[in-house]
Amino acid sequence: MPAVTDTATDFQDLTRFMADCRKRVEARMAQLLPDHASASPRLADAMRYAALGGGKRIRPMLAYAACLLAGGRMEDADVPAVVIELIHAYSLVHDDLPAMDDDDLRRGQPTCHIAFDEATAILAGDTLHTLAFELLSVAGDYADTQRVNMIRKLSQAAGADGMAAGQMQDMQANGQALTLAALEEIHYLKTGRLITAALTLGALAANADAPTREALRRYGDAIGLAFQIQDDILDVTAETAALGKPSGSDLRHAKSTFPGLIGIDASRTRAAQLCQQACASLDDPAQGGNASLLRDLAAYIIARTH
Ligand code: IPE
Ligand code: IPE
Ligand code: MG
Ligand code: MG
Ligand code: MG
Repeated sequence: MPAVTDTATDFQDLTRFMADCRKRVEARMAQLLPDHASASPRLADAMRYAALGGGKRIRPMLAYAACLLAGGRMEDADVPAVVIELIHAYSLVHDDLPAMDDDDLRRGQPTCHIAFDEATAILAGDTLHTLAFELLSVAGDYADTQRVNMIRKLSQAAGADGMAAGQMQDMQANGQALTLAALEEIHYLKTGRLITAALTLGALAANADAPTREALRRYGDAIGLAFQIQDDILDVTAETAALGKPSGSDLRHAKSTFPGLIGIDASRTRAAQLCQQACASLDDPAQGGNASLLRDLAAYIIARTH
């Protein structure tokens, strides 16, 4: 398994890449989100609050790295990076609502429904979601077939057989004793599907061939599940100040989590296995390209501290 800090050079490169991705996607989001002059200034303010107020921007990084792997340029992945982050931001706004995880802190700030109100937060989530699909249909410079493929992959990943299904299963699992397979399915759906979509959209933006897209799908499915396992671990092991969201929220709300089901050590072992599996899927010579950024991002995802 590659370790992010193994060599100073790798770490420097990854740090620079991450900072560059963050800057690009935030600048594009700031341009593309509605502003105070739109039909509802309050709704626009809430959308901007939810989408622009911090966040690691890992999904955009994955979209950019997949695009580069497939031979594309950074700018080819700007629209995929923005739309995946808009869907992610919408999912967080709704995830934090009183009817869902009922959390009051996100990215070190009051959650959207606390800063505004519940109705505004629901509508901001709705419109972050629709904006993503609008942008896929019009923004950037893509062939119509690329646009349709990106729209199809993103809607499938976010919808009734994807993230929303995972969120539904997650809510139904509150207070339940699940099998490990059932918990993995929830985590894969609620978090893994969107992470894989980030990679797929980045690849589609670069017109990646089928073997490359398949390698990225396998990488994404493994690292997406590992991402949520690490999120569950951090809920137990990290402080609220470092997380920017309430530590211990899962236990307080009787959520079904990896540490709750198999303990911290076994959760870490499973995340490390998945990281290895993700990186191994990039070994196939058929997919060509330099995969070191994606390997380093995989290592970062399971080693991150917030
Ligand atoms: C948190 O995602 C929600 C999950 C799907 C686990 P991130 O950890 O990527 O949150 P931000 O975007 O950095 O705030
Ligand atoms: C969220 O999982 C998954 C989403 C689809 C938003 P969590 O509920 O564990 O995410 P956090 O811990 O609130 O960020
Ligand atoms: Mg949740
Ligand atoms: Mg939550
Ligand atoms: Mg969590």
